[in-house]
Amino acid sequence: MHSESASCSRHVCVGALFLALAPILGAAVSQPPITVKSFGQLKDGTPAHLYTLQNSSGFRADITDFGGTVVSVFAPDKDGALADVSLGFDNVADYETRSPYFGATIGRYGNRIGAKGFTLDGVRYTPPLNSGPPEARCTLHGGTGFDKALWRARPTMIDGDPALVLEHTSPDGDQGFPGTLEVEVTYRVTPDNALRIDYRATTDKPTVVNLTNHTYFNLRGEGTGTILDHVLTIHGGRITPVDPHLIPTGAFMPVAGTPFDFTSPHVIGARIGADHEQVKFGGGYDHNWVLDKPAGKLALIATLHDPTSGRVMDVLTTEPGVQFYSGNFLNGAKGKSGHTYAKRDGLCLETQHFPDSPNKPQFPSTVLRPGETYATTTVYRFVAR
Ligand code: GLA
Repeated sequence: MHSESASCSRHVCVGALFLALAPILGAAVSQPPITVKSFGQLKDGTPAHLYTLQNSSGFRADITDFGGTVVSVFAPDKDGALADVSLGFDNVADYETRSPYFGATIGRYGNRIGAKGFTLDGVRYTPPLNSGPPEARCTLHGGTGFDKALWRARPTMIDGDPALVLEHTSPDGDQGFPGTLEVEVTYRVTPDNALRIDYRATTDKPTVVNLTNHTYFNLRGEGTGTILDHVLTIHGGRITPVDPHLIPTGAFMPVAGTPFDFTSPHVIGARIGADHEQVKFGGGYDHNWVLDKPAGKLALIATLHDPTSGRVMDVLTTEPGVQFYSGNFLNGAKGKSGHTYAKRDGLCLETQHFPDSPNKPQFPSTVLRPGETYATTTVYRFVAR
């Protein structure tokens, strides 16, 4: 079981000491690269922690061991002013009881599996049906998934950068998925104002895996209103269109000439109300883009720009797809500092394999077998202009 002293590397303890001395030593003492503090308790009394990773220019990410969750990302605007660009809560209790996956690590399977389960090597598996209307239930984000687990946390420095290694063991049969899955997610803050996420997993039985991060971004700052005025580019010429219940049909739809064409920069709100069947099914944007890049290569796949603050977020990934979700189900939840998050006050760019791949042989495979290592990387990099 995780304990604060066990997770407190030499660097972090030094960091905590620096923080304690800061008021005495005065402003000359800058923030250490890694600090840790309490993030409250789970319902069963288990303590959760909040780790802060910060680079020398002040860009920082706050991450909790509960759900492997990104709680805050502080990025500079065009004048250098920092704002928290990710939606979330102030304490772990809210993440445990009422979070729409804010910032969470998603697993075992990101997004939807339809057909009430899947068949692998001739065996039928039935993960919990936790989403959709009664007549079309599906598995969303792995059931009660990795977003509700308390991960083992190990702060460390990687090549001079502050990092947090989070580990989780998902037992054989967890949420109906086969195989004991050993998962490692490493968050790292780099000098170029990026949050890098490396995912690793191994299994002892054939299984399916699709890990992602569910941070909701608002580049003007969380709690400042809508993302409809953000400008988005996605380097993907096709989406995997969905049925009315957001399960991919298995087809590929070219985006050219449709509201889904973000191959050049477009204001998100400009076409979100368009009279297009896919927009209607999604209640806005809630679709998987097929990325135009070689499989497995870490490449720039999307750029988000807020003209008001000047903040720009580049997304790079090794994954073949990205779910652009325009926050259509946000409904006024009260978040950090009492801020209210209404419909479309945040958006997600969830890098992933395609939804429902276990039932779609034409999609890139999500099967992981014993002896193989699942390894993907995603980078959220911030600049301002
Ligand atoms: C994903 C899904 C959305 C929604 C959110 C969580 O982005 O695609 O439909 O379920 O997660 O609210």
